[in-house]
Amino acid sequence: MLSLKRRQSEEKSIREILKPSSVEIAPDKITINKRQNRIIMAAGWPGRVQEGFLDRIITAKGEFDISLHIHPMTNDDSRVYLDNAIKKMDADNFSLKKTGSSSATLTNKINDANSTLKKVEFGEERLFDTSLYVNVKAYDDSGLEKQTKKIESIMSSVKIVPRRPGYRMREGIESVLPFARNMLGVKRALTTSALSALFPFTTSYLEIEDGGVLLGVNEKNSIPIIQDIFKFRNPNGIVVGSSGSGKSFAAKLLATRIMWNGAKVRIIDPEGEYAALASALGGKVVKISRDSKTCINILDFMGQGYNEKRESLMSSFAVLFGDMSSYQKSRLERAILATYKMKGIEKEDTESWKKTPPILSDLHKALSDEREIAETQKHKDEILSIMCKMDMFVEDDGLFSYLNSGTQMEFENQLVVFDISEMSEHIQPLILHMILEYLNYEMRRDRERSLVIVDEVWKLLREPAVVDHIFKMVKTSRKWNMSLFLITQQVRDLVNSEAGEAVLANTSFKYIFGHEASDMKYSQPFFGLNERETQILLTAKPGEGVLMLGDSHYNIKIEASPEETKIVTTDADVLRKEEID
Ligand SMILES: Nc1ncnc2c1ncn2[C@@H]1O[C@H](COP(=O)(O)OP(=O)(O)O)[C@@H](O)[C@H]1O
Ligand SMILES: [Mg+2]
Repeated sequence: MLSLKRRQSEEKSIREILKPSSVEIAPDKITINKRQNRIIMAAGWPGRVQEGFLDRIITAKGEFDISLHIHPMTNDDSRVYLDNAIKKMDADNFSLKKTGSSSATLTNKINDANSTLKKVEFGEERLFDTSLYVNVKAYDDSGLEKQTKKIESIMSSVKIVPRRPGYRMREGIESVLPFARNMLGVKRALTTSALSALFPFTTSYLEIEDGGVLLGVNEKNSIPIIQDIFKFRNPNGIVVGSSGSGKSFAAKLLATRIMWNGAKVRIIDPEGEYAALASALGGKVVKISRDSKTCINILDFMGQGYNEKRESLMSSFAVLFGDMSSYQKSRLERAILATYKMKGIEKEDTESWKKTPPILSDLHKALSDEREIAETQKHKDEILSIMCKMDMFVEDDGLFSYLNSGTQMEFENQLVVFDISEMSEHIQPLILHMILEYLNYEMRRDRERSLVIVDEVWKLLREPAVVDHIFKMVKTSRKWNMSLFLITQQVRDLVNSEAGEAVLANTSFKYIFGHEASDMKYSQPFFGLNERETQILLTAKPGEGVLMLGDSHYNIKIEASPEETKIVTTDADVLRKEEID
């Protein structure tokens, strides 16, 4: 008893809170707390409706609510309703004939009604009393009139007859509020199939996929685009745009949302700007340096086969040593095989591939053995030259001696940021190559959904070894449940490279943000942007751009919720304001 009383008083107080402070009813509008509302009702309907025909109204931009009332009729009522309708139309037809004329439309309607009646009798169709109302909202008279006209013209274009219920705005507003009270009572009987055509969630903008994440908000109609990137034919994505156009912001937001959806996220961060994100999301920042325990041993198989590893090693060394003569290449290959053999790892014995691999100093030693047996001084010198280039990796005080050690890369964290910002540009591509190799291994082993983000990838795409790797990854990612997300501001590099073509062909979602005119001339043909999109991109603010999903283009905006903004923002002003608040 007591709890009932308490509930009643709580309900009352909620009503007190929600109740508007003023309501003003006029013949053609109702103003609630300064906001004007006008109800438009569907007074007439087209004879036949096509599937999704409400899309045009739903996807229109502006402030309005749509309210549909659907009330099933009993079979008996349906029969009586149809019978009466047929009788009336027959009578009209009869009087028309008497005047010597005829109407094809009327005859069609009679035939339609007869066939519907049959279907109702056989239980194939049912009838539903249906009402459609639109509540248009604005803050002033001219806005209200403009918006009303717009909705009326859209309704007319899909052959719905719009009408403003004069002097009945109060009933109107009650009919559109979520109380299921159809006070206006302007109904039309629709069959099951016609009703299903009214089902409003059929536009491509509105396909909200289970397990999907918000990719952006459609600028045209403010409808969110929610898709599961791992279900795309090709789960990879790319972002292009000039500096400051919002690429990293979009990537951080995607990372956050994907992570909240349960997938792993791995980020390669050449600018050192993702640490805050990692700390906000409980992720881990990995720096591969002298001071960290983490290490990748370049000679580690990491799940690859013998030959595959051999090839990838040759491309890694190409990054390190630059151009090699064919003699140098052949001796290096021999030294690699000898180093593995020394550790009992042989091509034919797959079990041996799991043994502890050699490290760089072992390879250095094998090269020195090759040098011993080289026949000419020239050959000895050639081998010595690559050995010298290796010194910085193997000598105790060598610049990169921290890479001369076994792989230490186990982390259970859902989010890992590889910060490579403090490395010299010379070594960055090699490290990226090694990280990608490790990630590839991790993905193949776990086969869990994972997103791998490479920011400012253009810097790193200049190395053929890295390009090869990216190539391989974009082509096989789907198999391992991985999505590779590449960020670049240098469109030119992408356009003119084979890797660019491969990336384009193997990415299902592409964000194109603000562009400088000088870059636009490359992007426009490369992405097939139209004139309007080009204009939008030349003046876009951060986070505004075009999202390409397969062949569809959408003008979108990247919007973060206040919670997300706290996590992803790098804007010093916003951060400072947060601190002051
Ligand atoms: N969608 C967005 N909403 C709000 N602020 C944004 C948005 N996109 C970018 N910004 C802000 O604009 C600035 C530049 O964005 P950033 O993503 O770092 O650019 P890019 O990586 O393209 O160089 C940052 O301060 C960022 O916080
Ligand atoms: Mg950036």
